[in-house]
Formats: sequence, C-alpha cells, structure tokens
Amino acid sequence: MKTRVCDILNIKYPIIQGGMLWLADVNLASAVSNAGGLGVISPYAGMAKDGEPLENLEIQIDKAGVLTDSPFGVNIPLDLKQSGSLIDLIIKKDVNIVITAAGNPGDYTELLKNNGKIVLHVVSTVRQAKKAEESGIDAVIAEGFEAAGHIGADELTLFSLIPQVADAISMPVIAAGGISDTRGFVAAMALGAEGVQMGTRFVAVDENPAAKEYKQAIIDADDTGTIVTSRSISPARSLKTVFSQQLTEMDRSNASTEDIRKFIGYRRSPDAQLDGRLDQGEAFAGESAGLIKKVVSAAMVVEEIVEGYEKVVTKIERLKKTLFNKDTQD
Ligand SMILES: Cc1cc2nc3c(=O)[nH]c(=O)nc-3n(C[C@H](O)[C@H](O)[C@H](O)COP(=O)(O)O)c2cc1C
Repeated sequence: MKTRVCDILNIKYPIIQGGMLWLADVNLASAVSNAGGLGVISPYAGMAKDGEPLENLEIQIDKAGVLTDSPFGVNIPLDLKQSGSLIDLIIKKDVNIVITAAGNPGDYTELLKNNGKIVLHVVSTVRQAKKAEESGIDAVIAEGFEAAGHIGADELTLFSLIPQVADAISMPVIAAGGISDTRGFVAAMALGAEGVQMGTRFVAVDENPAAKEYKQAIIDADDTGTIVTSRSISPARSLKTVFSQQLTEMDRSNASTEDIRKFIGYRRSPDAQLDGRLDQGEAFAGESAGLIKKVVSAAMVVEEIVEGYEKVVTKIERLKKTLFNKDTQD
C-alpha cells in the first residue's frame, strides 16, 4: 500500500479524509490520522453556527497537537472570504499539510511552499490538474462527479477522470468521489491513483458532529439517494430531500441565480448537517451513500479498507488465471 502519497504526507496508508466544512473537526481528523490515514480539519468544523472560523481553526489545530502525533492537514476552500487569513494562520501554526479547493491554486501555493508546507489541490478536469501541477503543488486530488458537496461543472466521473489525469501530469493523483470500501480503493489504484480521499464515508462515523438524522439518512440512501443541485451556480451533490429537490426544480425552471442563492441561504447547511433538519439546508452526500450500511468508527473505515485489500487482490488474481491462463481449444 506504500505509494508516493504515503511518502509525501508521511502516512502509513494512502487514505485521506476529505475536508468537510462544518463536519471535519479535530476529533474526526485525529481519529483518521491515528488510524494511519490523513485526517483533515476544516475551518468551520466544531464551531457554533454564528462562530468565527479563524478563532475556531486555531482551537482545532491546538487540540490536534494533543490528540494525535501523526500528520494531519487543513482544508481551505479558496472561495471562502477568509481564505487569506486562514492560510496566514496555518503558516503561523505548526501544520505541514494544506489542501486547497474551489479556486485558483496559483493564489497561495507559492506562499505556502516558501513556508515549507505540503500542498494538495482538488481538481475535476485534466486542464485544472495541469494548472495545479504548474503552480508547484505536491499532489492533486482528482474528484469525480459522484462525489459529495461542490463538484466539477464538467461532470466528469472518476472512471474516466483518473486515468486521464494520471497520464497528463507526473505528480501523484489521489482519487475522490464514490469510494467507500476496498473495492473502490483497489479500482482507483488500478486507474492510476496513488491514494484515495473519502468524504461521505466519513460523515457516517462516530467521531464528527453530524446529526444522527443525517448519518441515518446516508445509511438509508440507496443508489439513487443523491441529487445534483445548483447547476447554474456551482453544482453540488446532496441527499435527495425536499430541500434539494426544490433546488433542482429551481434549476429546471431557470430561476435566477439570486433566487437560488437566497434559497440556499447563508450558513444554512448546518441546519441540516448539524441539527438534522434535513429539509432546511444542504445535506451533502455522494453516490457512495448507497454502499454505506453502518455508522462505524473512523478507524474502522481505514481498517476495513486495509483488511479487505488481500481479499480483493486475491479475487483479481483468480480472475487473471481464468482469463489468461485458460487452456485454449485452438
Ligand atoms: C458534508 C461534506 C462537506 C464537504 N465540504 C468540503 C469542503 O469544505 N472542502 C472540500 O475541499 N471538499 C469538501 N467536501 C468534499 C470531500 O472533501 C470529498 O472530496 C468528497 O466527499 C469525496 O467524495 P465522496 O463523498 O464520494 O467520498 C465535502 C463533502 C461532504 C460530504
């Protein structure tokens, strides 16, 4: 399981817990890091709905120093108003790994690299991956349209995206979107990835502040349990709820972006994600929700992928024998 991603991030398994704005707090991140993956803290996670992210992130980072000796990262969506000051804070604190998303990697990579940080950036097309590589980052996270939360407007799914990105750049590629178990992990590696990032799987775990109704809704979701909304602004995948279906309806009826933004609201997603009022805000979830059957510990998610590895690889070996070593009649 050792790949360049393990070497760059100094982690045992190339398994990353994705940033999740309101959910990826220090408890979740340290649990993943302690299990041998990379835990990632998000600036709003662990804070009250009317809280101050800069203050919150500092508290979360300080707690991480107590809860884990292993590497962890911080996720900065570059479209956040405070992204610049959050990055200054990361530079000031002893955090080595930064994962940027939703913006131009050129904005802060030089500053972060000059301060000795390892930088990963989330992309959803080959063009973005090349641009990210040129900016001087260390690895890209290529996220398919299956994923939860804000997803690429070009709607590329992981099966086509990963090999094309892996062919186009020389730095390691981490696959995100639709992965929740060993099968997804092995498939991503076969496509050319050197690590995986998961979000939805880490919503339905014990160690984050997500409401039990939200976790249960992920468990209850089947293959068609998610829906893409807000295509006219920035596509996002959520659980299929009255709220998300209303949003999709607004897209269909060509509602103005202003009305859509107003409907999504300001800091409304925590009503769904933290309070469990799923019809009041965006309850992000990816297509892999249909594969997730139980709320478990974060460590168990990592362990199950590692332990299942041999079984999946043995199955592939067996398949190889039947396919290629078969006695032929001709
Ligand atoms: C509730 C939730 C919030 C998310 N918020 C962020 C975020 O703030 N920044 C980010 O880069 N990605 C965010 N994501 C995306 C994840 O980091 C990850 O890339 C994605 O969930 C992977 O796809 P999967 O859900 O199919 O595993 C979020 C995902 C979820 C489920």
